[in-house]
Amino acid sequence: MCGIVGYIGNAEAVPVLLNGLAKLEYRGYDSAGISVYHDGIYTIKAKGRLANLAEKIDKEDTLSSHMGIGHTRWATHGAPSDRNSHPHNSQSGKISVVHNGIIENYMEIKAFLQEKGYVFVSETDTEVVAQLFDYYYEGNPVETLSKVVRKVRGAYALAIMCIDHPDSLVAVRKDCPLLAGLSSDGNYVASDIPALLEYTRDYYLLDDNEIVFLTKEGVTLYDLDGNEIHKDVFRVTWDIDAAEKGGYDYFMMKEIMEQPEALRKTVFPRMTETRISFEDISLTEEEIKNFNRIHIVACGSAWHAGVVGRYVMEEVSRIPVEVDIASEFRYRNPILNQNDLCIIISQSGETADTLAALREAKKQGVKVLSIVNVVGSSIARESDDVLYTWAGPEIAVATTKGYTTQLSLLYLVSLYFAKVRGTVEEEHLNEYLQELRLLPQKTEEVLKLDTKMAELAKKYAQSEDVFIIGRGLDYAAAMESSLKLKEISYIHSEAYAAGELKHGTISLIEEGTLVIAIATQERLFEKLVSNAKEVKARGAKVIAIAVEGNLAMEEVADEVIYLPKSGDIFTSSYNVLPMQLFAYYTAVERGCDVDKPRNLAKSVTVE
Ligand code: F6R
Repeated sequence: MCGIVGYIGNAEAVPVLLNGLAKLEYRGYDSAGISVYHDGIYTIKAKGRLANLAEKIDKEDTLSSHMGIGHTRWATHGAPSDRNSHPHNSQSGKISVVHNGIIENYMEIKAFLQEKGYVFVSETDTEVVAQLFDYYYEGNPVETLSKVVRKVRGAYALAIMCIDHPDSLVAVRKDCPLLAGLSSDGNYVASDIPALLEYTRDYYLLDDNEIVFLTKEGVTLYDLDGNEIHKDVFRVTWDIDAAEKGGYDYFMMKEIMEQPEALRKTVFPRMTETRISFEDISLTEEEIKNFNRIHIVACGSAWHAGVVGRYVMEEVSRIPVEVDIASEFRYRNPILNQNDLCIIISQSGETADTLAALREAKKQGVKVLSIVNVVGSSIARESDDVLYTWAGPEIAVATTKGYTTQLSLLYLVSLYFAKVRGTVEEEHLNEYLQELRLLPQKTEEVLKLDTKMAELAKKYAQSEDVFIIGRGLDYAAAMESSLKLKEISYIHSEAYAAGELKHGTISLIEEGTLVIAIATQERLFEKLVSNAKEVKARGAKVIAIAVEGNLAMEEVADEVIYLPKSGDIFTSSYNVLPMQLFAYYTAVERGCDVDKPRNLAKSVTVE
């Protein structure tokens, strides 16, 4: 949600800021803006995509500057408009602020400042930060920012410039990501690494309430009492190409095709032919044997991965598992016990509700194991143990490789627990491990359905409603497939547990309604064939997804997509792949912006 950047150094600031914002546009694209130091603070902003801002800047005479801040917005308070766009400046024009997050007590602060004579021009919560900073400002930006932080409540990453400090920037974070990049040519702040990669690989990961003071010569960190903090410099290990489209039209397709490699990196280092080894977790065998219950908590697609995780974990390690949506879990006063484990799943590691759920679990004294993609993210840092999915940067808003690598770790963890608890025989474990080793290769095979799914998408792209049905693990796949389709193609779609159809939903099926039946569970296959027949009899068009050799769908469905045999628990890694492709091509057919679907942002850092 929103991306911020800041730069101070020898280079021209405007291109650095625009370039950084382009890399952060996945975080929000309702509007964009920059403030640079150019004979005072010069602010320029535009509603809509970054291209609108770039066009506006092009019309300016030179905007030469060596420091500035920038913002790409996902609107929370106030509709997308030029006026509500960031940066926000204080009424005096001396302070300029960009903000990612939400200031919860902004009404209260606004009233306080209005009483002091401050006049507000936008509907945003951010404007109070600019005015409050101005109110407290006595010449020292670090001191002022610490006063502001003590007064505001909420989640934020802020970068601020002051008119009488053309040689420095200040920034701070609480519950929203922020990095400080270091280079010999200047220094940076940004919400995420891709914004910095062209300039530097070295950065500080900021913790909550750490203030960063940047000049072109260096970066200094302070706590809220003004004491200097020293911390290690991180080095990005992946290449800049990983954050570029690499010849694909959209990041989403690049990321779909990267799945085999991402799975290799996630799975192979953690297993041999006969063993799973988790050197990266501290849970003892004793603790694993004593687990009473596991709570898996996540949002969106990561929650769907959790639903798969529940089936697999219960099946192989016989531990009862509950799966919760993080925004529900955090407010439902969950009952957790000392011998429970909480598994948190998040690609970004910054999702606000998921982070709050993690904190709730820790508050209740429960150990947290997280499955995260972004190294050093808040969830990764606050968990007792973290297992990284080595998927590389995921830029497209709709997750693909993030999801399938999460699944692969859930398999590994389930099998590891099963082995420790003695709920799986050696012989079976070895068969499972053999199957896991084939994951990247079979994923590659399934992705060859690319052309077929493009043809089907062309045929059905104008559907108004799509129902996706499945049972057991196929129901989890139906939920994930339905989310993929609706979020990027805007077709109304619903996932149903196939057995539930007759309890209401089947009344919506009429002549030509598209129903996708996911039927990859051997023991439930025939039941799905019956469900497909039921909708077919009511006029539906049916696309079925089945496993090679199960031919009975041919008699019912209009189209059958076949997946390689893999054993029931692993089909979740494959059944979702044709649906990722189908959603992608449907969105392309409908002229949608695949990577940046309307109203969405990649990382949901507000609740
Ligand atoms: C859908 C999608 C979202 C995310 C959700 C959680 O394609 O990407 O539903 O899965 O916002 O995000 P993370 O995994 O970053 O916590």
